[in-house]
Amino acid sequence: MTTDSTASRTAAVPLPSRLRQVLSLDDFERLAKRHLPRPIHAYISGAVEDNASLAENRSAFADLAFVPRTLVGVAQRDPGFELFGRRYSAPFGVAPMGIAALSAYRGDLVLAQAAQQAGLPAIMSGSSLIRLEDVMAAAPHTWFQAYLPGDQAQIDALLDRVAAAGVQTLVITVDTPVSANRENNVRAGFSTPLRPSLGLAWQGISHPRWLLGTFLRTLLRHGMPHFENNYAHRGAPILSASVMRDFSDRSHLAWPHLRAIRQRWQGQLVVKGILAAQDAVLARDHGADALIVSNHGGRQLDGAVAPLRVLPGIVRAVPDLPVMLDSGVRRGTDVLKALALGARCVFVGRPFNYAASVAGPAGAAHAMALLREEVLRDMAMLGVTRLEQVTAACVRPARAWDGF
Ligand SMILES: Cc1cc2nc3c(=O)[nH]c(=O)nc-3n(C[C@H](O)[C@H](O)[C@H](O)COP(=O)(O)O)c2cc1C
Repeated sequence: MTTDSTASRTAAVPLPSRLRQVLSLDDFERLAKRHLPRPIHAYISGAVEDNASLAENRSAFADLAFVPRTLVGVAQRDPGFELFGRRYSAPFGVAPMGIAALSAYRGDLVLAQAAQQAGLPAIMSGSSLIRLEDVMAAAPHTWFQAYLPGDQAQIDALLDRVAAAGVQTLVITVDTPVSANRENNVRAGFSTPLRPSLGLAWQGISHPRWLLGTFLRTLLRHGMPHFENNYAHRGAPILSASVMRDFSDRSHLAWPHLRAIRQRWQGQLVVKGILAAQDAVLARDHGADALIVSNHGGRQLDGAVAPLRVLPGIVRAVPDLPVMLDSGVRRGTDVLKALALGARCVFVGRPFNYAASVAGPAGAAHAMALLREEVLRDMAMLGVTRLEQVTAACVRPARAWDGF
């Protein structure tokens, strides 16, 4: 229970000077744009085709307004919530992001450890450059997100590895049957693996803090990063002139694969990337324990609906499942709007990636503390002391008139 929204601020260790001007999650983006080589910044910031879903993810939040209640006594507020038998300190966590260790030194470890220290959920991406086993040893409550390999034997081998690593919560991402049309990546010279070129070398040289503090530090201490967790075995290196990344074909994957996973996987099973209420029902009927309503941060099908707009219908369709949401969450107010429409919690992607990139563990911790303080402050002004009080009655369409 927190009694005052300044409590976590005063208790925090002094901030590194670079972070003193970072007052909101969006402030990290400005720093990251300067810090990161252009192809890497473009990979993180970019979406797909005309960025329609990316923009919609933000406007959906803007289309909802609060109806705050007053004089209810909000001195004692608790932004904590429970999921899968564990209590978390605030209703948000870290979304899975591939190759986080290329933008931030040991990025996956940094994010998972910062989240664990802050009492927040964190999901490690399967398209990552640090071995899952190392992240689980450092932050044992981390969830693991898998992209399904192409055939059942590979899926089974990966599941066995994930279970052996001690993962309790497995997230299966289902919105990537084929690679998205990321024109921005092509324009910015980003690919996986990265292809050595004069342009890429110049990007490194002209971003010396990233080159020395992230890339060369990684090479010297840990060797060339490889995709470590797409399969039960190691995958392609992140930098290579000739190696092709083995994107096994996922277009044939279908609901029976989820059922097969459910039969083999003993832990919690979360399906990420649901937007249709019918798919929410199917996911539940095939064994999902929870869902993440997501359009992948606008990075897959351009024009896919903003998750916030379909959230109420999905919550109604599967009232027995915890429903979570990501895509476009940037403020404490966004977190509370999603909760008001029925989300158990939300996940945040890009801002946490930028925070770890520009300032490592201190950056990630600062980003998480900022968002938690916003939630706590906004709860007071909304007139609630516990998250269960954040209901549909707290919000309304922003532009509808009363009394006409
Ligand atoms: C750089 C980057 C890499 C991502 N990699 C993955 C991934 O490996 N697996 C996955 O399920 N989602 C991935 N996502 C999507 C995020 O998990 C999440 O759905 C999205 O970032 C949320 O939107 P936001 O960035 O607006 O918060 C990635 C997103 C970004 C920005």
